[in-house]
Amino acid sequence: MRKGYFITLEGPDGAGKTTQLARLLAAAAEAGVPVVTTREPGGTAVGDAVRGILLDPQYGEIVPLTEALLYAASRAQLVQEVIKPALTAGKLVLCDRFIDSSLAYQVYGGGLDFDFVWRTNLAAVDGCLPDKTFVLNIEPQVGLARRGAAAADRMEQKPLAFHQRVQQGFLQLAERFPERLTVVEADRPADEVFAEIWRQAAPHVAALR
Ligand SMILES: Nc1ncnc2c1ncn2[C@@H]1O[C@H](COP(=O)(O)OP(=O)(O)OP(=O)(O)O)[C@@H](O)[C@H]1O
Ligand SMILES: [Mg+2]
Repeated sequence: MRKGYFITLEGPDGAGKTTQLARLLAAAAEAGVPVVTTREPGGTAVGDAVRGILLDPQYGEIVPLTEALLYAASRAQLVQEVIKPALTAGKLVLCDRFIDSSLAYQVYGGGLDFDFVWRTNLAAVDGCLPDKTFVLNIEPQVGLARRGAAAADRMEQKPLAFHQRVQQGFLQLAERFPERLTVVEADRPADEVFAEIWRQAAPHVAALR
């Protein structure tokens, strides 16, 4: 039986997902709430191996279908091994990217069929959808610039038009799933972004104490 609360952070590269996840973790810990954080792809031994394949330029062009199935495989392992046990134990689960990244990148960015990717991933997560997803919205140029000179991984080598489709994809997902997804404008100071996230998350987090 699920008793915890599951929050995911989504949005384009460099939107501030990892930054905001660290802040959520600190705030939850401060509130005395048991919390588990994880990231995608990865978060398990199998998932980290899949992540290595997905993000390493040495593998060249991975076709979108392969990419979608690899992400779903990593996610399936993460749900069974980490997320479901933590929710069952009543913990707060914070995940850096999840199912909506597959839709934004592989469907809106990569051109795969929405229903195919959605159904594949619904099967992969085994009913375990987030309770709340914060979409950090940012122009791709701004997000990619924030990443600076850090070595570009395989996703970041895609053309700007791809990243623009991804950004628009996240916004369309928010319209499609308005109960679960909340858009937070991320091109402003991290403190302001966090204040908006925390205002909405805090009551759910406090309920886990
Ligand atoms: N609100 C903000 N304003 C300015 N810079 C920020 C803000 N939030 C994060 N940053 C900085 O931008 C960079 C990218 O942030 P972060 O790693 O949190 O983004 P991300 O969404 O996790 O990126 P990725 O998709 O690459 O994992 C970091 O150097 C971070 O310190
Ligand atoms: Mg990150």
